[in-house]
Amino acid sequence: MSSLRNIDELKKDLESAARAAGSRKQFMEAVARQLHDRMLKYNWVGFYMIEKGSKGQPDMLVLGPFVGSMTPHSRIALNQGICGAAASSGKTIVVHDVKSDPRYLACSADTKSEIVVPIFAKGTVVGELDIDSHFRAAFQQEDIGLVEYCAALVGQFLEKFGARESAEAIKTAAATSSSSKS
Ligand code: SME
Repeated sequence: MSSLRNIDELKKDLESAARAAGSRKQFMEAVARQLHDRMLKYNWVGFYMIEKGSKGQPDMLVLGPFVGSMTPHSRIALNQGICGAAASSGKTIVVHDVKSDPRYLACSADTKSEIVVPIFAKGTVVGELDIDSHFRAAFQQEDIGLVEYCAALVGQFLEKFGARESAEAIKTAAATSSSSKS
């Protein structure tokens, strides 16, 4: 499905999930699951959250809840990959053909296109929503609108649940994510 009507229904369901969720982890898992299962070209859907570097170490993106195959990239530096570029610029990045983008860090040989949308809380990038597709140029205008909507919803949810939740809680979610379609 990807008609605008279905996208509107999906947005409404995610708003309901935000009202029902009891934790950040629960809501992020619901967003990843719904996007993966209801948008047929979204073959890997997941979150990377910024972990503040301690003792002079740089900030890192750490894999959070996701649906799809396990990725070798559980930690990504802010100067690496499409993920690092989106987080450090604070801008949505759409790559129609990952082979043509030298920044791309391969997750699966099947991936052809990717979108990464930063998540803001209180005006600061705190993470991002990353989606891979097995189809070239899978992310068109309506997809960008949907994914940016979801990232904004998660940002609002994170603000509501407070600025701090242990990175451990988010990382645990990564360990429990799984999928039958990827
Ligand atoms: N392709 C991403 C890495 C994350 S995996 O796709 C899950 C990148 O280039 O940053």
